[in-house]
Amino acid sequence: METVLITGASSGIGREFSKLFAEKGYRLVITARREKNLAELKKMYPENNVEVIPCDLGSEAGAEYLYNEVKKRSIKVDILINNAGFGLFGEFYETDIEKEKKMIDLNVKALVELSKYFLQEMLERNSGRILNVASIAAFQPGPYMSVYYASKAFVLSFSEALRNEVRNTGVCISVLCPGPVETEFEKSSELTKSKLFSKLKPITAEKVAYAGYRGLMKNRAVIIPGFFNRAAITAGTFVPTGIKVNIARKIQEKKK
Ligand SMILES: NC(=O)c1ccc[n+]([C@@H]2O[C@H](COP(=O)([O-])OP(=O)(O)OC[C@H]3O[C@@H](n4cnc5c(N)ncnc54)[C@H](OP(=O)(O)O)[C@@H]3O)[C@@H](O)[C@H]2O)c1
Repeated sequence: METVLITGASSGIGREFSKLFAEKGYRLVITARREKNLAELKKMYPENNVEVIPCDLGSEAGAEYLYNEVKKRSIKVDILINNAGFGLFGEFYETDIEKEKKMIDLNVKALVELSKYFLQEMLERNSGRILNVASIAAFQPGPYMSVYYASKAFVLSFSEALRNEVRNTGVCISVLCPGPVETEFEKSSELTKSKLFSKLKPITAEKVAYAGYRGLMKNRAVIIPGFFNRAAITAGTFVPTGIKVNIARKIQEKKK
C-alpha cells in the first residue's frame, strides 16, 4: 500500500485530496493544526490506513517536527502534497505584518523544507511524487493581496525548477494552480471584503482535488483546473504585466 502525506488536510482542498487518495487505496498521513477535524477524517477509514500528525507548519520548527514524526513512525512517503496555505486581503501599508510573516513561513518556508526532506528520500529510492499547491495568483502580481500572490509565484517557480532538476530520475514534481475554490480560504484570507469571489465563480474543492490527482498521476508540469482559468492564463502570456496587474486589481478590489 502506497502512502500519501497531505498538509492542510483539515478542510477544503486538502480534505478532498485525503478522501480521494483514500478511495484510491492509499494509506494517508494527514496533518494540520485542528486535531478535531483530522480525527473526524480518520474515523471515516480503517484504523491502520490513516496516521494523524497534528502540527503547526507555520511555526519555526514545524516542518522539521513533521518530518521527524514521520521517521519515528517508520513511514515511507511515496507522495507528498504540499497543500497547506492561506492569504490575506488588504492594502499592504495597513495589513498585519505578523500575519504576513506567518503566511511566508507556511506558504513558502514549510513547503521548501518538506520538499527538501522528502525529495532526498525519494531520489534515494528513485521513485516518488510531489504536488505543490500554488494558485492562478502565481501568474501575475496581485494588488490588495501582494504577499499572497508573491508567495504563490515562488511556489510555481520553485516547483518548475525542481521538476527540471529531477527530470532524469523516477521522481515527478507537479504544481497545482487553482482559481477561486469554495473552501474556508475566502474567510480565513479576509476575502469576504473583496469582490473576487463574486466576480470569479468558485469551483468545488472536490473538482480541484480530482484535477490535481489526475495531473499528478499523468506527470503534468502545471495543472490549472477549469477551462476558463486555463484559457485566461494562456491568453495572459500575451498580455503585458502592467495590464494584468490592473485587471487583478479590478477583480479583487474592496466591495463598496
Ligand atoms: N480556495 C481558493 O480559492 C484557493 C485558490 C487557489 C489556491 N488555493 C490554495 O489551496 C491551498 C488549500 O487551501 P483551501 O482553499 O483548501 O483553504 P482552507 O479550507 O482554508 O484550508 C487550508 C488548510 O491549511 C491548513 N493550515 C493553515 N495554517 C496552517 C498552519 N499554520 N499549519 C498547518 N496547517 C495550516 C488549515 O488547517 P488548520 O487551520 O487546521 O491548521 C487547512 O487545512 C492553499 O495553499 C491555498 O493557498 C486556494
